Amino acid sequence: VNDGLKSADLLAWYDDHARSLPWRVSPADRKAGVAPDPYAVWLSEIMLQQTTVAAVKNYFIRFMTLWPTFEDLANAEDERVMGEWAGLGYYARARNLLKCARTLRDQGGFPKDRAGLETLPGIGPYTSAAIAAIAFDHPETVVDGNVERVMARVFEITAPLPDAKPEMKKAAASLTPKMRPGDYAQAVMDLGATICTPKSPACGICPWRAPCKSRLSGLAPTLPRKRKK
Ligand code: ADE
Repeated sequence: VNDGLKSADLLAWYDDHARSLPWRVSPADRKAGVAPDPYAVWLSEIMLQQTTVAAVKNYFIRFMTLWPTFEDLANAEDERVMGEWAGLGYYARARNLLKCARTLRDQGGFPKDRAGLETLPGIGPYTSAAIAAIAFDHPETVVDGNVERVMARVFEITAPLPDAKPEMKKAAASLTPKMRPGDYAQAVMDLGATICTPKSPACGICPWRAPCKSRLSGLAPTLPRKRKK
C-alpha cells in the first residue's frame, strides 16, 4: 500500500531541515543521544493546542525561564501563571496546566504511556499521542491538520474532511516507524508547515516527491478536500 513511501526518507530530510524550535532538542544534542525533557514537550504541546508556532515561541521560553520544572510551575501562584499566559487565549488551558503540574508533583512525574497521559487535566487523545511519541519515543501516531494534508496528498485521499479522517489516520499509522517515532511525528509536521503547504506546495524539494500520488496527478494543491456545508 505504501508504494515506496518510506519514513526513513522523511527522517533523513528532517535531520537536515528540522525547524529549530525552542522546545526541541538541538540537532547536535539529538546526535549525541540527548533525550527530550517531558516537561518541555508537555508545556509546548499545551500551548500549541490552539495557538500557532510563531505565537507560542516567546511564551514557551518565558515559562521555561520562570518555571524550569513542573515542580516549579506547580508551586507557582495561580495569578502569576494566569498573568504570564495572558495573550495566548483559551484560558482553560492555563487552569488545566496548573492542575496538571500539581498532579505531576503529587504523582512524582509523568506517566510514560499514552493511556496514563490521557488521565491528566488538559491532555486529550491528540496531546497524549504527541507527548508519548515526542517525549518517550513511543510509536504513537500524531494527526493534526498538517499531517492530514500530507496524508491526503501522498496517498491521494480524495474523500473530503471530516469524513476522511479515519482513512487519513490509518494512512498516517501505516507510516509511523518503530525507530525514532518522535522525530518522525515532528518531521511530518515540519513537512506540512514548510513544504507541503496548503496553497503552493514546494513539491520539487519534497523528500516524498517520488512516491507522492497527488504530485503525479497534479491534485496535490487541491487536497485535502472539505465537505460542503
Ligand atoms: N504543533 C504541535 N506540536 C508541534 C511540535 N512539536 N512541533 C511543531 N509544531 C507543532
